[in-house]
Amino acid sequence: MLQGKNIVLGICGSIAAYKSALLVRLFIKAGASVQVVMTPDATNFITPLTLSTLSKKPVFVDYFTPESGEWNNHVELGLWADFFVIAPASANTLAKMAHGLCDNLLLAIYLSAKCPVYFAPAMDLDMWKHSATKKNISKLQSFGDILIPPGTGELASGLNGEGRMAEPEEIIAFLSADIKKKLPLADQKIMVTAGPTYEAIDPVRFIGNHSSGKMGFAIADELAAMGAAVTLIAGPSLEVSKQQSVKRIDVTSAEEMLQACLSHFENSKACIMSAAVADYTPVNVALQKIKKQDDNFTIEVKKTTDILSRLGAQKKPGQVLAGFALETNNEEQNAIDKLKAKNLDFIVLNSLNDEGAGFKKDTNKITIIDRDLQKTAYTLKSKEEVARDICYKITELIKR
Ligand code: CTP
Repeated sequence: MLQGKNIVLGICGSIAAYKSALLVRLFIKAGASVQVVMTPDATNFITPLTLSTLSKKPVFVDYFTPESGEWNNHVELGLWADFFVIAPASANTLAKMAHGLCDNLLLAIYLSAKCPVYFAPAMDLDMWKHSATKKNISKLQSFGDILIPPGTGELASGLNGEGRMAEPEEIIAFLSADIKKKLPLADQKIMVTAGPTYEAIDPVRFIGNHSSGKMGFAIADELAAMGAAVTLIAGPSLEVSKQQSVKRIDVTSAEEMLQACLSHFENSKACIMSAAVADYTPVNVALQKIKKQDDNFTIEVKKTTDILSRLGAQKKPGQVLAGFALETNNEEQNAIDKLKAKNLDFIVLNSLNDEGAGFKKDTNKITIIDRDLQKTAYTLKSKEEVARDICYKITELIKR
């Protein structure tokens, strides 16, 4: 959930600041970029050097860094951040945030931030229980800021009770769960196919095609980034998923892809069939390498099962099914015919006549045609951007 995200981590003056070092490490490990901002008081509890070493970025405390002569722009930092996490959040800083005070850089970033703000309080039992603190927290929540509740246990004062900052692992888990539940495809199971299939002729040869799998992998990544639980059924492809959560199932032939699709489709909310499945496969596969003999050589082939048609026939109400049509002529009509014949909710048409579209390219130019024969033509875009357009369409149909 945190992969590729920009996080501003605000650290206030509290003994719990020592835990922030581990929190930075966990953010980095999860693939996030972290900019640490400390209140001046926080530097009494943990050194900026520790945090800059772990975050691999200079730590900001003041508006101005005298060593580099640089102005630390709070508006820019507020815009850069996908999330602003204040951990530990002291009673003092929470009170200032609730009242719009702005006497340090951390507070200026808070007032400038356009992103969700999470705060993990750390304070002594009585401070936590005080009506002033409770009121401040309610006020912050009414602004939309999100409380990461403190834990109960031994406190720095020697007292025992509520007020300990949540452990770094708990903060990561809280954040990930909160981000996930707000994503448009949270917990939707979606199946994607990608790449070519290889149909064996003998132990060393096959019938294949030029599909790289780029489009299907980009769709799988985009769906996962939108919160979906993605199963990617991939033919032979050198691509790798950028999103760790994508569950990849490797197959080689059209028959293997069919079996994998059949076993996953029933439990899927949606399926996007972007694989370039072989239409024909050899009738007989030689057990030994075929030796060179006559000048001409014929391989007898038979039709493979049309996977998409099979899924279309067993589609249940509420399931969304999408396919691709790569055409060279009579493009729109061919795509519409496939949409109807295969019982699809929409088809993604790309034409080999469009420059920049097709196999092995990093770009694609598509037209989406849906069941009502509504057509949306998109401009030439990167395959990642095309994937986003396709995933928006999926989201729209799932929500209906
Ligand atoms: N498809 C499939 N199983 C096959 C062949 C194709 O599931 N055996 C799917 C593809 O993944 C794609 C859609 O069907 O989403 C259309 O594939 P395409 O190759 O464009 O069309 P075909 O139906 O195979 O027809 P033709 O090759 O004659 O254009």
